[in-house]
Amino acid sequence: MSDSELYARKLPRHVAIIMDGNGRWARKRGLPRFAGHKAGMDSVRAMVKGCLERGIEYLTLFAFSSENWRRPAEEVGLLMNLFMTALDMEVKKLHKHGVRLRIIGDCSAFAPELQKRIAAAEELTSGNTALNLIIAANYGGRWDITQACRFVAEQVARGELAADAITPAVIETHLSLAGLPEPDLFIRTGGEQRISNFLLWQLAYTELYFTPLLWPEFDEQAFAAALESFASRQRRFGRTGEQVEQLLDA
Ligand code: IPE
Ligand code: IPE
Ligand code: MG
Repeated sequence: MSDSELYARKLPRHVAIIMDGNGRWARKRGLPRFAGHKAGMDSVRAMVKGCLERGIEYLTLFAFSSENWRRPAEEVGLLMNLFMTALDMEVKKLHKHGVRLRIIGDCSAFAPELQKRIAAAEELTSGNTALNLIIAANYGGRWDITQACRFVAEQVARGELAADAITPAVIETHLSLAGLPEPDLFIRTGGEQRISNFLLWQLAYTELYFTPLLWPEFDEQAFAAALESFASRQRRFGRTGEQVEQLLDA
């Protein structure tokens, strides 16, 4: 893709979302935190629908961070169960709609049964092209960069790569989202304005959008508002605003 095509784009190709605020949503209603995680599934469905309708090609959702193991064991267990159930209930429907499902993160920490279902869902949907749905589970941006560096270091140790041949492009080929376009739009619900160890490398030039809406409240209309905000921005990637205007006029 040429620079002018990238700068002119009013619709993101790749949206990445931190789905935050489930616990607070539930507590506001006097419900256990888990009820919020369950309610958040409707918002996930709404985002998938919204992306399919608009032809947004990549949707990456942060479902469980490498730090979320610090939560009470009961909540972690319930989240793992929800993950399993969601895989069972939703994968057929996703497949029917042409969605390719991928999980990024350190899956080795999950129960063998969950790992099996993840692999089966990825395999079943591997030929689909309507939308790439990427779920970040036991994911951490630092973990991602570290494991990429480990691969590269092993290549150097084997004498296959010179240390001075290591470029950002080389590192990129070993990251979880290798070869995929970087997120154009990042959304975080729940009111916090932080990255919480999400896609640290890939968010370098992503447009950031924060909303106080809690994740179960984030519906199609709220998504449309985020997309509108994206469309109104001028991305410059280091250039000046005048240069960007010239590029777009050319
Ligand atoms: C996000 O909602 C979901 C996960 C981290 C799994 P939270 O559970 O963090 O909700 P709050 O931030 O406590 O409201
Ligand atoms: C980030 O939310 C992780 C997910 C949404 C999966 P957290 O609720 O874990 O983030 P912090 O702890 O408030 O930064
Ligand atoms: Mg939270």
